[in-house]
Parts: sequence; C-alpha cells; structure tokens
Amino acid sequence: MRGLARSVVVRIVVVLVAILVLPGANPAWAAGKIQKKAYGTTAHGEAVDEYTLTNASGMEVKIITFGGTVTSIKVPDRDGNMANVVLGFTDLKSYETRSPYFGCIIGRYGNRIAKGKFTLEGQEYTLATNNGPNSLHGGNVGFDKKVWAATEIKDASSVGLSLTYTSPDMEEGYPGTLHVKVVYALTDKDELKIDYTATTDKATVFNPTNHSYFNLGGEGSGPIYDEVLWMAADKFTPVDSTLIPTGALAPVAGTAFDFTVPKLLGPAIHSNDPQVVIGKGIDHNLVLTRRSPSDKSMMLGARLYDPRSGRIMETWTTEPGIQVYTGNFLDGSLYGPSGRAYRQGSAITFETQHFPDSPNQPNFPSTELKPGQTFRSSTIHKFLVD
Ligand code: BGC
Repeated sequence: MRGLARSVVVRIVVVLVAILVLPGANPAWAAGKIQKKAYGTTAHGEAVDEYTLTNASGMEVKIITFGGTVTSIKVPDRDGNMANVVLGFTDLKSYETRSPYFGCIIGRYGNRIAKGKFTLEGQEYTLATNNGPNSLHGGNVGFDKKVWAATEIKDASSVGLSLTYTSPDMEEGYPGTLHVKVVYALTDKDELKIDYTATTDKATVFNPTNHSYFNLGGEGSGPIYDEVLWMAADKFTPVDSTLIPTGALAPVAGTAFDFTVPKLLGPAIHSNDPQVVIGKGIDHNLVLTRRSPSDKSMMLGARLYDPRSGRIMETWTTEPGIQVYTGNFLDGSLYGPSGRAYRQGSAITFETQHFPDSPNQPNFPSTELKPGQTFRSSTIHKFLVD
C-alpha cells in the first residue's frame, strides 16, 4: 500500500515538474488553450477581440469577433514546420473596408440570390443588389461586418468559441428576427469544427457558411495550381453569365468539375470549359453525392492535398453543396501577413452550403426556416499530413 502511495506521489511530482519546467512543450496530455486580446476598434467604435485557440498538438487558429472571421490557421507540414494556410489581413481596417470575405461568417444567405428578389409565403422581398444584378453573401452589411458576442468554450478534447448575433427583422431586407449561434471548436484531432444554429420568429431563408481561403502551401506561397483536389460530387450547378444557377444539376463527368478522382487544380482552373470561362476559374457549387435528398449526415465532401508540403485538408459537412471558388477575382492588390500579393489562384474556398439562389429554384433543397424550427448545420476542416 505504501509502495502504491509512493508511486502516486512520484507521478504527481513528475507531472508538476513537467508543467513548471517545460511550459512550451505542450505534451499530448495537456489540454488546449485559449488566449484573448484586444484586436482593434471598428469605424463605428465597436471593440473587436482576437481569440487564439491552440490544441494539444500545437495547431493554432485565430478568430476575431468582427465577422466571426478566421484570420489564421497554423498547421504542420510533413516535417513539422508550421504555416498559416488561410489568406487574411494584418489589420481590422482592411477586414472592414476591402475584404473579399476572407475567413468570415457569411449570412444571411451564402452566395447569390438572383436580382435580389425572392417570394416567401406569397410575399415578395427585395434585397440589396451588391454583385451586378444580384445579391451576394447577405447584402451590403452582411454577417461578415457584424461584431459577434463571444464566449470561450473548453472541454477535455477541444477549445473553442461560441459566437452569437441577433439579426433584426428585415435586416438587409430579410424577414424575421434571427438568433444565430456559430460555434468554432479546435479539437485535439486537428479539426476546426463549425456548428451553426438559428431560430426565427417569421418565415425566412437562411444559408450561412464560412468563407476561408485555403492554400496548403501557406498563405502567400504562390498559386494552388499544384494542389490536388478530390471531391465526393458527381454533379454541379451550372451558371449563367451573372453566376446564377440555371436550375440544372449537371453531371461533372467530362467537365472541368470532375474531381471524383484526384486532380491537379491548375489544369481545371485554366481549362476552356465554357463554365470555367464564365467563372474566370472555378466559382461553382458542387453537389455532394448523397444517398437521398433528405440525407443530412456528416460526409467527407472534399480532400485537398499539397504534394510539396504533405499537408492535407478534408472538408466534412452536413450540407448538400460546396461552393468551390479559386480566388478568381484576386488581382494582386491585396496582401496579408506574408507581405506577398494575392492573385487569381492564390487560394481555394470550400463554402459548405445549400445551393446558390435556392429561394428562386423550386428544384433545389429548401433554405426556408420557419418559426418553431431550429436550423442546424455542421462543417469540419480536418488537417493531416502524408
Ligand atoms: C463567390 C464569388 C465571389 C466571392 C467573393 C464566392 O463565394 O462565389 O463569385 O467573388 O465569393 O469573394
């Protein structure tokens, strides 16, 4: 008995010594950590905080309360070298004034609604047309420009942030007071999990997403042309010249959008496929191959691989589609922490979502949310190395 007590004491001492002597070592049994600091003040005088989430193995995610924006994701390559694999800025003003939606929460409606109009329960609603003739990503002041209320979350295997925002009735033209919660969790399995929930007091439409731009070689490391993409998507939604879906669910077979076997991104982005020409690259919703239209199980939708660094990202989702956008409108005028300019092909987004323009497309899965219902959607970006 005495021997047992002694061995327990010895173990406790060893653990305490490890904590005191090796503060940076972050051994596997240690829980992750959350650090908070002031990030800046918006032009409207709102205080914005930055949270740094670090998991037990050292993966690090930074999120600011402005737009619920993921500003940095640091993951190791096959040799353990860390790099930030998302595009972003180094200052709040850039996020406020010139961001092409880097890393933010998009709402109320991810992607386009044709001509900024839709009809719900016999009533026509009009939205701001902020993208040619269409409404894009929630209108002029979407969720990406709101300061979200944050609460830290920590459990045995993850660290995270719960963000809430209440969107007033008719904000940006959308009906219903919408209570939205977005929970970011960084798990000890190197996953960034994003859970969305929402309720409304009037029938409305809702289609949130996260707009992170990924480059597994590292932010500013050059184009993603040599990265390899696989997707569980046998169809896509072709678009007209204003990037509104025609309504068709077209097979990817024989097109530039066929990633059902792993393919290099460069040739797809530079293909003369008429849909790629319209999008100036890939800017399309891929339809995930599901068992049935009502299947909302968490599935592996996309797998991006960077042969040079060995980094892999898997995107899992409960959503029916993923908008894949290869940064086609980046023109070299923006740059981030690396100081190197962002150009077309500098990154790729995986915007898990319902299909664009669903409120006007009766054949697409519905984005309607009614009073009494709770909207739920989850996405996981999981990082690995080969
Ligand atoms: C859209 C692009 C748009 C981009 C904004 C994507 O979701 O599909 O057309 O330019 O967001 O940065």
